[in-house]
Amino acid sequence: MYSEKVMAHFNAPQNVRFMLNPDGVGESGEPGCGDHCMIFIKVSEDVISDISFQIFGCCGAIASASMTTVLAKGKTLADALAITEQDVVDALDGLPEAKQHCSNIGVSALRAAIYDYEGKKGG
Ligand code: FES
Repeated sequence: MYSEKVMAHFNAPQNVRFMLNPDGVGESGEPGCGDHCMIFIKVSEDVISDISFQIFGCCGAIASASMTTVLAKGKTLADALAITEQDVVDALDGLPEAKQHCSNIGVSALRAAIYDYEGKKGG
C-alpha cells in the first residue's frame, strides 16, 4: 500500500522537533481527518537554514510533512514556496489514491511559515 520511502519517513521522520525562537511558524490541518501540523523555520539571507515540524496525523501526513522539510531545507524562500503537493508525492514515490490529500498538510504549513516570516519582516 505505502512505498518504502513513505514507510521510512513514517518510521523515522526527519526534522521532527519543536524549535525555540523560529523566524516563522506555520500551521495547517485537515478538518476531515483531524490531522494537524506545525512547521518552524529559521531563515538566513533568504534561505531556509533550519526547519522542523510537529504533527498529529496519519502515516501519510507524517511522511509528507517529513519529506516537505527535507525538500525545503537549504532552499531559498521563493524556491520553497514553489514546492507543490505533487513534488512531495513524487519524492515519496507516490501515495495511495485515498491518501493523496495527506501531502497538503506539510506544504500548507510550510507556506504559512514562510508567510509568517515575511509578515514579521514586513515583506
Ligand atoms: Fe487525512 Fe492523512 S491527512 S488521512
